[in-house]
Formats: sequence, C-alpha cells, structure tokens
Amino acid sequence: MALQNGNRNDKDYSDRPVIFLEKKTLTEEIFSSNIQANHRRLTKDLVSALHELSNQHYLVILEDPEISDHSTDNRLNSLFLESGLDLSTTSEDLTGKDKSSQGEKSTLTQIEEFSLQYGIPVERRLLVQAGTKVSIFSDQKSLGTGTFLPETLAMCFHTYSDLASWILSHPSPYQNLIEGIRAGAEILREGALVVLPTETVYGLGADATNPAAVEKIFTAKKRPFYDPLIVHVSDTKQMLPLVTEFPEKAKALTTRFWPGPLTIVLPKSPLVPAIVTAGSPSVAIRMPSNPLALELIRLSGRPIAAPSANLFGCTSPTTARHVQQQLGGTYDAIIDGGACIVGIESTVISFLEEIPRILRPGGIDQKAIEACIGKVLADQQDNPEDSTTSPGMLPSHYATSTPLRIVENPSDYASRNDVGVLLFGRSDEDFLGPVEYLSSSSDPAEAAKHLYQAMRNLDSLSLSLIVVKLLPETGIGIAVNNRLRKAANNFSDTAEK
Ligand code: TXA
Ligand code: MG
Repeated sequence: MALQNGNRNDKDYSDRPVIFLEKKTLTEEIFSSNIQANHRRLTKDLVSALHELSNQHYLVILEDPEISDHSTDNRLNSLFLESGLDLSTTSEDLTGKDKSSQGEKSTLTQIEEFSLQYGIPVERRLLVQAGTKVSIFSDQKSLGTGTFLPETLAMCFHTYSDLASWILSHPSPYQNLIEGIRAGAEILREGALVVLPTETVYGLGADATNPAAVEKIFTAKKRPFYDPLIVHVSDTKQMLPLVTEFPEKAKALTTRFWPGPLTIVLPKSPLVPAIVTAGSPSVAIRMPSNPLALELIRLSGRPIAAPSANLFGCTSPTTARHVQQQLGGTYDAIIDGGACIVGIESTVISFLEEIPRILRPGGIDQKAIEACIGKVLADQQDNPEDSTTSPGMLPSHYATSTPLRIVENPSDYASRNDVGVLLFGRSDEDFLGPVEYLSSSSDPAEAAKHLYQAMRNLDSLSLSLIVVKLLPETGIGIAVNNRLRKAANNFSDTAEK
C-alpha cells in the first residue's frame, strides 16, 4: 500500500539533499520489536528525528510491494500520516509492483531511478535503513585525487536522534568526511591528537613514531605511563618495519581477521619508541576495519598509536559525543563516524610464547582464533592477580561512576526506583527503575554493540546502583562479560562474580 499523502510531483528536489527511507527494514525493526517499551521508544525517536531532518532535507519513502504483513505496513503508514510529516513516496512503477515488471526492484535501483527522474545528484542522496543505519554516496569523479574510501559509506547510530544530528552537521556528507580525514592526517603528521572512529571503540590517535605526540595521549587520558598503547596500521606492509618477528600463526590470523578487531603482540623493532610500549620489548598492532580509520592512517603515512578515547579506567566511547563529553578540549580534531559497529575493544593476542595467549577477549572469540591457528591460551584474562603480562589488563576498568553490580536475578531489584537495570534480552518484568535492553532479540553481537552506550545512559541518571546479569559465556558474550566484571570490580560481591 502506498502512502496517501505521497506528493512528490510538486517538488523539484534540486535544492536539498534527499533522504530515502527504506520502508521494508524500518517496518520490520519497529513492529517486530517484541518489547513494548522499545517499540514506543524507537517510534518516537524515528518520528522526531524525521521532523528535525525535514526542514533541510526531502524525505522519500521507498515503497515495497513485498512487505508481507499488511497490518504492519498500515501501522507504519498511519504513523507517518498522523505525524504530520511531509513525506514523498516512490510510485508503484519504481517499486516494480506493476505486473509487467520482473519482480521487486532493489533499494539501490529504486533510488537510482527516482534520482534520475528528478535530477538528484549522487552526492545529495542518503539512505536510511533499519538498525539506524545511514548510507552516503559519492561521485568519485568529482572528488578529484584518489581516495581509497568506497563509493558507498554506511554508518550506524545508537539512536535515530544521533542519526539526525549527524546528518544535520554534515550537509555534504561524503565531502565533509573526506575533508575531515585529510585535515586529520595533516594534524597527525604535525604531532597533534586526532580522535578516530574504529569498528570497536573510538580511539585517541597520535603519530606512533613521535614520542612527544604520544605523550599527549597519556596526558589527555590521565593514563599511567606503564600502560602500553596499540599501534594502528593501514596495511601489513606498514606493520613489518615495526616488529622483528612475524611468526606463521600471527600471519595466518592477520590474513584471516585483518582488517578487524584483532590486535597482535610481537617483539618490537627500534622504530617503535619506548613510550608507546611502556618500555616493554613488545608492541601491540592492529589494522582496524573502519574505512574512515584506514583512510586516515593511510593518508597520514604514519603508524598511529591509539588507546580507547576515554579517561583512564572509565567506560569506553562508541560515539564521537561520548568522546567530547569526557575528553573535550584535549585533542585537536575529531572524526565523527557514527556509532562503532562492534562496540567493544579488539581481542589482544600475544605471540611472545610458544603457544599464543589471549590477553584480552574481544571482538573475535577464542573459538574463531583456534579454528584458524589451533590451540591458544586464555587462562589469565580474568585473573586479577596477574596484571604483568599485559599491564593495562587491570582488574578495574571500563567503570561507570554509579556502582555496577553483577546479579543472578535482576528481578530482585524490580521495586527499586533508584536502581537501573541492564538486561541482555527481552523481559516481561515490570521494573520501577530505568531499564536498558542490550538486544531485543538476545543477540550477543548486538548486545556488545550497545553495551557502553547502555552503561552510559544508566550512569547519567544519578542512580544509586546499576544491576546487570551476565550474558551466556560463549562467543562475544565472553568479552562482554569480561568488561562487565571489570566495570563491577569494586562493587560486586565475590559470590556474584
Ligand atoms: O579495539 C581496540 O583495541 C581499541 C581501538 C581504539 O583500537 N583500542 C584499545 O586500546 O582498546 P586501549 O589502550 O584502551 O587498550 C589496549 C590494551 C591495553 O590494556 C594494553 O595494556 C594492551 O592493550 N597492550 C598494549 N600494548 C601491549 C603490549 N606490548 N603487550 C601487552 N599488552 C599490550
Ligand atoms: Mg581502553
């Protein structure tokens, strides 16, 4: 069913960017949410974000004849109609609904055809999909000198309101990002600090070959000098001069998981200054997969030392705003790439011993690593007594300022309005205090992505306590639980840990 107030013919679409809304995925996301509170929150957030955007953008709904459930489709249509938004909608011939067409047209084909019809250039097109995901497009030819960024860049956000703020602050999205990256690369070369988005968490970056620049990181984060930094590279070639050995197993792992949330620890070469490794003869290296981070590193021409961009010991940042709130004023540039898609830090694995050892569980789990290189050790990661192998693996970390407690039964706190509840999945329980759901579908990867944002949300409410139940101890759940245990370190009863 097409929207009744779809009224595209009186617009020429020539003076503003056009936001295409993928009706199919938005409908699925909003109406399949089996948690009432989540559904209300999502809907309200989406409608008010669209209101904000509609002042400076055209909004076009991509109709989809394949939306199987007509009642949910009707619900979305009435929601948009009642909200008083000025929305256009693609016509039936563009969706492929007419009988003569060869079935459903892809989202990109629909955008292309609509844009051709109304003369909307590539760089003024944006696509909004479920998962608060925005895709921006570029006309590579108009960008001049070669960039390694893909022609389509997808960014995710924690909320539709974050999505709207990002779009409003990037009137020429692709161009703005490229300019930011070019300026950032120059700033890094000059020895100053640049905040960069990675797929895990935001990093506070400096030229790893410049000790004075690296020192600024420690000062900004109030990080003790005994805690070494990870060095980020844009390809393996850039890594080789930084190490003296590159064992076969490390090679196999990086071939399989780079770019991605994997950090390898190897013997360092003299090129890596002592301040980076806290005097240790080994260096931790990672090639992130976020295309903005890769392009920034590549253009700077330097390996980039970057810890998570938070004050030492505090909750890690998964948005540019998180960084601004905690470290604002201490860095020289920030690249806002939306929310981090993995959401927790990389897996750190050391190759200094005969058998590789996982020093920090993270985005890539032990099973996946062992499937690639055979047996690895991981026994020390939650042992608070042992903080020597990886000095930064201190027992208390990632902490909220509100005490956080790991509990078996969050329901025990249902009647406390001063207690925030962090839940992994769905619950029918009525809690008097605020509740954050890490994943409405009980998906550990989604939980990881929302973990730090949810912790921050609850932490901002001046509660007396946050309670959380651990995730099942498998896959990325192991890494999420590791962060929760460390965040809870000062406050958990031993019995509950
Ligand atoms: O996902 C990540 O790894 C993020 C993003 C920004 O890349 N970075 C990150 O950095 O989490 P940071 O500094 O917050 O945590 C790095 C951890 C520290 O706990 C540190 O002790 C450990 O890696 N590490 C760094 N160099 C090491 C080394 N040479 N040997 C053993 N552990 C090391
Ligand atoms: Mg950190």
